[in-house]
Amino acid sequence: MANKSVVILGIESSCDDTSASVIRDGVVLSNVIANQDVHTKYGGVVPELASRAHQQNIVPVVYQALAQAKVKKTDIDAIAFTRGPGLMGSLLVGTSFAKAYAMALNIPLIEVNHMHAHIMALFAKETNEDFTHPSFPFICLTVSGGHTQLVKVSDHLTLEVLGQTIDDAAGEAFDKSAKILGLDYPGGPLIDKHAQNGDPLRFKFTHPKAPDYNYSFSGFKTGILYFIRDEMEKNDQFINENLNDICASIQHTIIGILFKKLNKVVADTNIKEVGLVGGVAANSGLRDALKQQEKIGWKTHIPKFPYCTDNAAMIAITAYYKYLNNEFTNQAISAKARYAI
Ligand code: KG4
Ligand code: ZN
Repeated sequence: MANKSVVILGIESSCDDTSASVIRDGVVLSNVIANQDVHTKYGGVVPELASRAHQQNIVPVVYQALAQAKVKKTDIDAIAFTRGPGLMGSLLVGTSFAKAYAMALNIPLIEVNHMHAHIMALFAKETNEDFTHPSFPFICLTVSGGHTQLVKVSDHLTLEVLGQTIDDAAGEAFDKSAKILGLDYPGGPLIDKHAQNGDPLRFKFTHPKAPDYNYSFSGFKTGILYFIRDEMEKNDQFINENLNDICASIQHTIIGILFKKLNKVVADTNIKEVGLVGGVAANSGLRDALKQQEKIGWKTHIPKFPYCTDNAAMIAITAYYKYLNNEFTNQAISAKARYAI
């Protein structure tokens, strides 16, 4: 097996993006992502609409991924899919497709945990040259629309969750704050955009308390809600007149909350190799804040933009390491909406 190249097709359908990726020996050949605009007008993902869109998108997305990679379906050595966590209806589309395709091609099937995959995005490379990835063990802060976790990663397949959110995720804190401000869904990128021209210290917001290495964001969101309600009662143009400063202050507070526990983990474990992954890792303020830590001796790692938000390359990469370790699954497998790493 060591001499033969390994081609893996990865499928991601846990939330509102349908994605397929082909990798060869851990190198990404294609990573096709179909976003679902249908949710924007509802201010959040509508699960039933997401499943229907996955159903429509999955075959064209897979075919496009194979075509871009210049790989024939008969060249694929294994099919990987997101088993969970995620929206059940969405997961079922990817899981069923992967099972059927693996059966039709008579090749192995590999199940992947979405949160594990976000971390493995740190190993997503497009060539074999000039690629740096974290060395083990490292601490990873995973920040997405549904999850916020601090994980100790000892090797590609050995992970220990040290802390996580006890209520909202960091992405939800961005999205719900944006909704309060009347911005479209998903609001994280819009807060990021406005924040770039604002004063991060203009407004002060609550830092909710959570035990140990855990996070809490629900009190933060409620604080924003009351603050905006009170200010709008005094001046109904408050949001329009101060949008950039409000966004910069919200972003600054969320980054502060995230770093408080990350700093604590790094200090307590003395592991200074640190990764930042997940959709919120696309945030420019958070990326800058992490890079600043290099000045105090941290070695920091963030995936390229397309590998931060949901994508199938991270699923295929995780599966590659499972393939090398002979971790396959069978046709009796089913999707899991709640699935801890
Ligand atoms: O990882 P992801 O694509 O999906 C989940 O698994 O949840 O993360 C989506 C989240 C959304 O909450 C979105 O607002 C947030 O990532 N996000 C951002 C930025 N880009 C995406 N949040 C802040 N700043 C950004 N630039
Ligand atoms: Zn995700």
